[in-house]
Amino acid sequence: MVRLGVLASGRGSNFQAIIDEIEAGKLPAKIEILIVDNPNAYAIERAKKYKIPYLYINPKEYSTKDAFYEKIRDELLSRRVELVILAGFMRIVRKPLLDAFPNRIMNIHPALLPSFPGLHGQRQAVDYGVRISGCTVHFVDEGVDTGPIIIQAAVPVYPDDTEDTLAERILRLEHKIFPEAIRLFAEGRLKVEGRKVKILDYKNPDICFTNPEIGK
Ligand code: GRF
Repeated sequence: MVRLGVLASGRGSNFQAIIDEIEAGKLPAKIEILIVDNPNAYAIERAKKYKIPYLYINPKEYSTKDAFYEKIRDELLSRRVELVILAGFMRIVRKPLLDAFPNRIMNIHPALLPSFPGLHGQRQAVDYGVRISGCTVHFVDEGVDTGPIIIQAAVPVYPDDTEDTLAERILRLEHKIFPEAIRLFAEGRLKVEGRKVKILDYKNPDICFTNPEIGK
């Protein structure tokens, strides 16, 4: 059973996917706290529904960015969180939090990294004209979407796709691979070696999805 702390800024559909896997008894994890940086984040409603404790931390109340992350770090440590999940958290994580959770912060990005990091990964893919895109779960380091890759899933990009239609196709797979990455962590099967993530006792071919039907 791994103790999770989830950070979110908005809708929280990935947060919901993680809750659903836990509720279904398929993910040995407990969400100790949801922390949001936006008081209107819909993720809060989801936390309330499942009686998950939540906390709004207002970045404007802190004189520096580091002070904001020290506050988040302290809240997570006081709840003995073991793994931090960035579920649509729209900020770049800084040193105070990174140092407290080395290779223990996971993010999901809506593109096949290292392509299209940063904001609007789906729009970047459509604008560039790639034929395949997808999503990536990775550990977080000091860069923007640069940390060691845990799982990726690919989807086709069709000629008539818009940012929204592609985002929807990718999101279905996000909801599949994020809980899967957490499960691998919970089972103690992820070992980071340099920038590579080794999966111990690897049997499940699902760490590399290429079928868009998966996750529907
Ligand atoms: C997702 O597209 C995720 O890849 C990105 O932010 C979005 C969050 O969506 N990091 P949600 O809040 O989980 O619904």
